This record gives sequence, C-alpha cells and structure tokens, in this order.
Amino acid sequence: MSVEYSVSPDGEKFRLPTEQENKKEFARLKDLVKKHRKMNREIVVVMGVGFVGVAMAAVIAETEDSKGTPSKFVIGMQRPSTRSYWKIPILNRGISPVTSEDKELAPMIERCVVEKKTLTATFSYDALSLADVVVVDIQCDYQKEALGDIHKGFADMTPLEGSLAVMAEYISPDALVLIETTVAPGTTEQIAYPIIKKVFQRRGIKSDPLLAHSFERVMPGKDYVASIRDFWRVCSGINKKARTRVVKFLKEILNTEDYPLTVLDRPIESETAKIVENSYRATMLAFLDEWSLFAERNGVDLLKVIESIKVRPTHSNIIFPGPGIGGYCLPKDGGLGVWAYRHIHGFEDDIFKITPLAININDTRSLHVGQLTRDALRNMSRPIAAAEVLLLGASYREDVGDTRYSGSELIVRRLTEMGAEIRVHDPYLTHWWEFEQQETYPKKGHSLARFFRNQGKLASLKMEPDLKKAFKGADVVIFAVRHNDYLDLDPDMVVKMIGNTAAIIDCFGILDDDKIRRYFELGCEVKGLGRGHVRWIKDEVRKQKMKKMKKS
Ligand SMILES: NC(=O)c1ccc[n+]([C@@H]2O[C@H](COP(=O)([O-])OP(=O)(O)OC[C@H]3O[C@@H](n4cnc5c(N)ncnc54)[C@H](O)[C@@H]3O)[C@@H](O)[C@H]2O)c1
Repeated sequence: MSVEYSVSPDGEKFRLPTEQENKKEFARLKDLVKKHRKMNREIVVVMGVGFVGVAMAAVIAETEDSKGTPSKFVIGMQRPSTRSYWKIPILNRGISPVTSEDKELAPMIERCVVEKKTLTATFSYDALSLADVVVVDIQCDYQKEALGDIHKGFADMTPLEGSLAVMAEYISPDALVLIETTVAPGTTEQIAYPIIKKVFQRRGIKSDPLLAHSFERVMPGKDYVASIRDFWRVCSGINKKARTRVVKFLKEILNTEDYPLTVLDRPIESETAKIVENSYRATMLAFLDEWSLFAERNGVDLLKVIESIKVRPTHSNIIFPGPGIGGYCLPKDGGLGVWAYRHIHGFEDDIFKITPLAININDTRSLHVGQLTRDALRNMSRPIAAAEVLLLGASYREDVGDTRYSGSELIVRRLTEMGAEIRVHDPYLTHWWEFEQQETYPKKGHSLARFFRNQGKLASLKMEPDLKKAFKGADVVIFAVRHNDYLDLDPDMVVKMIGNTAAIIDCFGILDDDKIRRYFELGCEVKGLGRGHVRWIKDEVRKQKMKKMKKS
C-alpha cells in the first residue's frame, strides 16, 4: 500500500492517517468531550478549517458565559486530504494554519489550543457524532470554464454535498447544523435538507434536521477576527426551532449587542442577501470600468472625479476600481445566484443581465494594463518583448497577503504572453502559489494559465523580497496594489534605484500629480488606469523643458 503525505506550505510532511488511527483519534475526542460536558460546555464541530473556519473556530472557542468561564468546546474538523490534512497537526500545536496580518489571530489560537484547551482539531468524521452544533465552513466554488464569460461555468457543489451526506450519517437529530458557506440561493432548503432528511429516514430518525444559514462577512487583513466577531450578521433557520437555536448560538458567540443580528424568515433570504451584497459591490466596480476608459481617452482623472462625487453622503461608497476585483468572493458569488436560478429553481429564461456582466468585466479589466504598458514603452521607443517589468503588489487588495483571483495575476500572465520578463515584489508575500504551483493550484487543470500562451516559465516566478534589488534595471514599474509601502515612494529615489528612465504604470490611483510630473521631468513615461489627465501633465513638462532650452 502506498503511503500518502500532506505537505504544509513550509514544506513539513505529514503522513495521512490510517483507519486504525481514526479509531484512536475518536477515543481521544470522546475523552475530551466527556470532560468538557462535565463543565457544561456545548460541543461545537467546525467543518472545514480553511480561511473562514479557522478564525470562526477560535472565536467560538473563546466564548465565555456570564461568569467568565469558557462555555464551548470546539473541534475543528478537516478531511484528511493530501492538500489539507497538514492543517490538523499544525492547529493542534496551537499554530494557525492561515497566515494573517491580524495580530489577534495567532495568540488567540495558541491561547485556545494550549492554555484554555477549548479548541482541538481532528481528521475524524466521527467527531460529528459528538456535536451539539455543527458549523459548516466548506468551500462552494464557482468553476469558470472561460475567461470573462461567467455563463460558461457552474457551481461546484461536490465538496458541500459530499460533506452534508457524511454529516447526516453521524450527527445527532438534535444537532444544529449552521451553514456559513456562501451558497447558491436555495441550497439549505433544496439541497441540504433533502440530503440530510433521506439519511435521517434511513437511520430511523423522524424529526427534521435543524438547519440554519448565516453567511460570513469575514475580511482578510488586520481586522480579520473582528470582522467575524464584531460585525453585523444575518441568519435564518429552516423552521422555528432551527431559527431559535441559531439566534441563541450566534448571540452567545458574537458581539451582537454592538452589532445586532438580522433574522430573516427563510434560509433562501439569508443566502440571497450574501449574493446580492457582493453582486452590488461587484457591479459598482464594473460600472466604473467604462468610465475609466472614457477618462483615459479624454484627458480625465477618474480618481478626482470619484473623490468629487464621494462628498455626497448618498454616494460616499463609490470607489476607484483598480486592476480587477479579486478576493475569493466577489468574482464568484454572483455566478452562484445565476446558476441557482436555473439549476436549483428550474427556470429556463435568462433574467440576469447585470450580475454576470459585472463579473465578466471585473475578471478581465486588468488585461488592459498590458495595453498601457505596451503603449508607454512604445512612447519610449522600447519594445515590450524582453522588457524587464517590475510588478509592485500581487495581492488582490491593499495591505493583505491574499492573492486569490488578484488582478495582478492576469497582468503577469498577459505581459508574459506579450514577451515581457516579470519580477514581483509584495511586502506581504513570500510565495505566489498561483504561479509556483500553476500545475495543481487551485486545482489540477484550473489555473488561469490555461487561458494564455507561453506560461510555462512562470512556474519559477519567485517573489523578490528586496525592493531596492527589484527596481534595479527595470524598464517598467507597475504600481498594482495600494500597499502602504508603495504610497510614498519618491520618484527621484525610484529612478535612482532603477538606474535609468522607465515606464511607470499606475493601476490604482497611487500617484498624485506631483509625483506624475516628477516622473515626466526625470524622463519617464507615465500611464494609469483611469488617469487620462497624465497627458496634460506631460504637455506641461514638455513645454517647460522647451522654455528652459530656449532661454539657455
Ligand atoms: N475567504 C473569505 O474571505 C470569505 C469571506 C466571506 C465568506 N466566505 C465564504 O466562506 C466559505 C469558506 O471559504 P474559505 O475561504 O474558508 O475556504 P477554504 O477553501 O479556505 O476552506 C474550506 C475548507 O473546507 C475543507 N473541506 C472541504 N471538504 C471538506 C469535508 N468534506 N470535510 C471537512 N472539511 C472539508 C477544505 O479542505 C478547506 O480546508 C466559502 O463559501 C466562502 O465563499 C469566504
């Protein structure tokens, strides 16, 4: 029999457990649960200790009763797959398997696992049989089959459906199942309920499963934990009992005094709220893409236009679109809604126009950076082929190390296709898995590499930790993300570090007019997404240079 391993991002190898070890593990859990039950603690199993599950498990494990005594014992349950098993032994050492900019997360996990002992992790599905509450934090992805065409894709229900089926075999009829996963609206009632109900019937259980839905609004970054605990929640239950139970549970674990809970009538309303919330934001950003092009072609600075609109309180949440949208949620969530309309609810017509269009626009907006780079280099009489391009920022948003579906990935892929040589700096990242593991990440055959040519060499793309070194000899500098480290970079210093003039591309309204002017004075070329006014600054600088020349 071949032995399988799961390898952590640090390269530590963990052998996958055997059936025999599963028995031993269940005995360990039963002992722990017995002890915690004696202390009147509710037993909570969090299924899926990924990005959301790990922080949620810690928030629950920190819950205390009115006397300040821990009131929950949490078992983080993770399937023993080669990709994810390593998270269990790591978590059981008191180390977070998720790296975060939030200083609260690591000590919180260490405290719960090592000191309070209110949190443990397991690979054993048997843990489910011990639960009073099961929190489901398993992914439900939207698989895209084409670039910029969300209609060519589908909701990948397999992990969620599989876990619900397994769960139904183990849970007690009284266990509350709280689905936190962002799902296609209708999933709790029309997919989860029948799956669990059928297994319950086979097990001779007459009661209905106690199903509830409450979506996560967790945000990566420095407020990662607070965005779970100290933030407004929406929830609903499949029936009155489930609703009462989920409200009680959320009130115990979250700061609902300061951030009141919204209780909706049915799970489909809570599921729809999540999809609409994210589609609203995706749409607002996509809508600005056409105005960004308008601005570039007509000498307008979109950044100033947006700032001038923002002063109206009714329009204060309008934001500059940047190079695409990124993150795990916004690029997929609308797709789950569109898919549900046909494949869960059975409608044949196509009512969705704006939601898919917004995703398609956001998914391809960053490709335009390839054109801006090409044009800036052309103005300097330099070819893009073999040009040395420095990309500043790989994350999808500022001051986080999260590269999922970042616009930067497509910038790299397009420019590589056009023949450029890429180097990357990001203060929050040491690896860019989308490239380093493009054969297998996010799944075999699912890398965005498949939509571009000449991507092979990107598997050896390494992050350059030294900013000074990164600049040296670059023909192009692309400001892709508004990381704090990049906001105050002085043009004179930049050109000095490069050792020559360069094309400077601003994707996120990072450069103010003084900096743009200085880059032109230093002989650089500047272009930016939505920054059409750079041409007026360029003209001004040219005229001043002419004046000076005439005088001398
Ligand atoms: N990441 C975010 O910023 C964010 C924000 C809000 C909402 N959400 C939503 O939360 C959900 C979870 O997202 P995530 O980022 O934590 O995903 P993730 O991929 O990081 O984590 C999912 C985890 O579930 C595990 N898993 C899969 N099948 C399993 C099974 N049968 N049994 C046990 N474990 C299993 C996976 O191995 C993985 O560790 C998604 O629906 C997502 O849309 C995410």
